[in-house]
Amino acid sequence: MAGSELIYRGHEAAPAETTGYSPKPSKRLPWLSRSARYLLGEHRLLFALVGMALASALFLLAPPPRPAGSGAAAEAARFGVVAIVVSGGGALVSPHRSGMGGAGAVVMRPGSVGGKVPLGLRRKGLRIVVTGGAGFVGSHLVDRLMERGDSVIVVDNFFTGRKENVVHHFGNPNFELIRHDVVEPILLEVDQIYHLACPASPVHYKFNPVKTIKTNVVGTLNMLGLAKRVGARFLLTSTSEVYGDPLQHPQVETYWGNVNPIGVRSCYDEGKRTAETLTMDYHRGANLEVRIARIFNTYGPRMCIDDGRVVSNFVAQALRKEPLTVYGDGKQTRSFQYVSDLVEGLMRLMEGEHVGPFNLGNPGEFTMLELAKVVQDTIDPNARIEFRANTEDDPHKRKPDITRAKELLGWEPKISLRQGLPLMVSDFRKRVFGDHTDAATTASASGGAGSS
Ligand SMILES: NC(=O)c1ccc[n+]([C@@H]2O[C@H](COP(=O)([O-])OP(=O)(O)OC[C@H]3O[C@@H](n4cnc5c(N)ncnc54)[C@H](O)[C@@H]3O)[C@@H](O)[C@H]2O)c1
Repeated sequence: MAGSELIYRGHEAAPAETTGYSPKPSKRLPWLSRSARYLLGEHRLLFALVGMALASALFLLAPPPRPAGSGAAAEAARFGVVAIVVSGGGALVSPHRSGMGGAGAVVMRPGSVGGKVPLGLRRKGLRIVVTGGAGFVGSHLVDRLMERGDSVIVVDNFFTGRKENVVHHFGNPNFELIRHDVVEPILLEVDQIYHLACPASPVHYKFNPVKTIKTNVVGTLNMLGLAKRVGARFLLTSTSEVYGDPLQHPQVETYWGNVNPIGVRSCYDEGKRTAETLTMDYHRGANLEVRIARIFNTYGPRMCIDDGRVVSNFVAQALRKEPLTVYGDGKQTRSFQYVSDLVEGLMRLMEGEHVGPFNLGNPGEFTMLELAKVVQDTIDPNARIEFRANTEDDPHKRKPDITRAKELLGWEPKISLRQGLPLMVSDFRKRVFGDHTDAATTASASGGAGSS
């Protein structure tokens, strides 16, 4: 039979055929079953074992497929570790659809990549983009992420940001700086995107209002598109300005706001509102993991000195011995949060399981006149106050209700205005006068609270 010809290898040894009849070879190991005899015959078992070993080796060495939903999950998979973890509240949370009502589902948490890392192995850092990372808030966020061991890519067009804010990371292999305008698309392989790029002070965002709204709409669309493409988690830094001139006080996240759609601030306010809309539509429509922070007035080192924001204005004016300019009657209120508190809130939000929006601000409420008094106490008790006509659409009151952030993120600000202001003052003093004149101005300032 042709088949048996193919497997019969005993031609050489076979006796010469004389009769046309070949006797069957005698059966060795007659006590074994037919299939076992077949397996043991002619090293077949050995070949089977070698084949299995090769297949297992290939399976173990092959790179794992990248899960669509999370770059961090891929990172975890690469390290062969489980990224499903128990959230702070003990609930398991889900990678998508983990909004405010999402507690109780199962989730990959990029910040917790690695779940349980074997002893002796360092936790692999995340790859994170920070747009606007050369700006005031962005640069402080970058510092914290770098400290944590992540690889950070800053994308910034330097409209209001400065290289000086991140120069201390130059030369660190975990840090990259890309000059890029977010209005144009960009492709980067990352696990998380903190989207901050946008001028934040009225002076800057009113400078070119069309560019401001373009940054908020087209820039946000581009970064959401990137997040979708690479499966990254996306965090939007929105603003308390979405509440406009609020009719509810303090402002809760469920309040929809009172915004003028055609005013001089609308490019920023409405731009951020649209950015929030886009973020939620990508979340609902494309299953994207998103987070939204509504940031209230924040101050600290590295703020632009002459950016028209009230804290930086007062501090620079007091240092230069100029009068503190108060717009209107000075009774309008704001709440001021120190930048490290905000950065902590942003990181908790990104790592947590809730979409938001979350108010991130310090509920301590000050009138402009009270703020001027704190600045006087800290820098120069003799600083004069000068009243000017109020600007258009200036909100009368601002104070965050942070109950939601307290409950769901376990976050609240720690640094009071009187603690934080001196830290900002020493940075401003260096930048306004240069290091060498620091001592002289410190002497004159020490007549104040003596806290700088
Ligand atoms: N600081 C606050 O009090 C405050 C309050 C509410 C919201 N926010 C939000 O936080 C974010 C950061 O604010 P900030 O105070 O650090 O402001 P900032 O002006 O210091 O930083 C913004 C950064 O974005 C960059 N940028 C602007 N347009 C860009 C573009 N088209 N492409 C690329 N980069 C661009 C700037 O160069 C700058 O580095 C902003 O989105 C802002 O709306 C801040």
